[in-house]
Amino acid sequence: MNIAMLGTGLIGTFYTMSLHGLRSRDKVVSVYSRSEERGAKFAKENNIPRWTTNLQEAVSDPEVDVVVVGLPNDLHKEAIFAAADAGKAVLCTKPLGRNGREAWEILQKVEQAGVFHGYLEDLVYSPKHLKAHASVENGAIGKVLWVRSREAHPGPHSDWFWNPEKSGGGAIIDLGCHCIEIGRSFIGKNIRPVEVVCWADTQVKPIAAEDHAIGLVKYQNGAIGQFEVSWCFRGGMELKDEVAGVDGSIRLDNFLRTGFEMFSAPGKKGYVAEKAESDSGWLFPVGDEVHELGYNDMFADMFNAIEQGKKPIEDFYDGYVVNAIMDACYKSVKTKKWEPVEIKEWRGLDEVEPLSAFVEYDENHWLVKEEILPDGRKKVILKEKAGGEIIEKDI
Ligand SMILES: NC(=O)c1ccc[n+]([C@@H]2O[C@H](COP(=O)([O-])OP(=O)(O)OC[C@H]3O[C@@H](n4cnc5c(N)ncnc54)[C@H](O)[C@@H]3O)[C@@H](O)[C@H]2O)c1
Repeated sequence: MNIAMLGTGLIGTFYTMSLHGLRSRDKVVSVYSRSEERGAKFAKENNIPRWTTNLQEAVSDPEVDVVVVGLPNDLHKEAIFAAADAGKAVLCTKPLGRNGREAWEILQKVEQAGVFHGYLEDLVYSPKHLKAHASVENGAIGKVLWVRSREAHPGPHSDWFWNPEKSGGGAIIDLGCHCIEIGRSFIGKNIRPVEVVCWADTQVKPIAAEDHAIGLVKYQNGAIGQFEVSWCFRGGMELKDEVAGVDGSIRLDNFLRTGFEMFSAPGKKGYVAEKAESDSGWLFPVGDEVHELGYNDMFADMFNAIEQGKKPIEDFYDGYVVNAIMDACYKSVKTKKWEPVEIKEWRGLDEVEPLSAFVEYDENHWLVKEEILPDGRKKVILKEKAGGEIIEKDI
């Protein structure tokens, strides 16, 4: 694939590192930057033949098959519309829009134009997520009841993130979008998110948006996706997930302290890992950052899907659903109540079985639990089916 990369900031850099790594046959052939100097430097450093300060020129380049949008949130819509008008496949970073309305307009546009669209939610493509997800699909932990996803770091690296008019919000829109999609991925993307309750506050930073939030997303089958986000967490970037099923559980640490620890008294001198706060003392580098963050598997899925005429794992409909969930979160922060998730067109299941996992002990009892006690006795707690009484017995 020949790619036009829009944006030469942090994500443009990570995406290009991923695309040009490991002798990839997919190449960035053109890069758009608003600065001539930055575009030329980025092109030279990454072996990209052309650069331009004209977005239109980048998306309509006849050699380009796929446009990748790595621009600030307020520019996603304009860039995607330009790519769709040029008839190009378009991949967009997270969040798709600054709110559900903008994301819906974007979705309508690419569907009407009939172009391929992929939502670049890298964290559902991390190697750990992919393995954990496959295990969940195989029934390794039974029905998923609860997913907790946490992303916390000391705050974003560019001015526009901190301006809600440009970004659409604070830590929820920036980090919550990842955590919400991780929850959907484990719970089941065809299960409708129905309502949310969310707390958010501006505890530390002198900004108009939230720098902390915790939210619960309730799904139609009763499963809960919990997200925790912070722009004030000290010590690096935490990306942690927990999945609780009826028959098992999973815990994932995707980034900080994942088994690579270094102590440096003089300092490593330079970059350690994304959002690392120091380059001396105890350091937690990451082996292959673009791989651990999911970018390699994400682009492989996108390009395979384009070649095979399939849908990728994540497309703009997913981006739209995530934006709709975040809209409900912002509403709940204000009302302090559960708020419905308003989805214009639900494309998943209409009917789902409520989560229930009653285990029959015998004809007359449900099993509540079984345990071996410190003195060696084995005991069961049972519920009588007829009268509902809870009893225990040694077995
Ligand atoms: N894990 C992820 O998926 C991930 C990580 C970081 C950022 N992002 C997303 O990527 C997008 C860009 O974020 P970033 O971290 O690369 O930001 P950044 O500030 O590092 O880079 C933004 C780029 O856009 C350019 N730009 C800024 N204002 C512009 C304007 N008015 N016109 C044209 N170009 C302009 C900048 O010069 C820069 O090249 C955002 O949507 C962000 O949410 C995703």
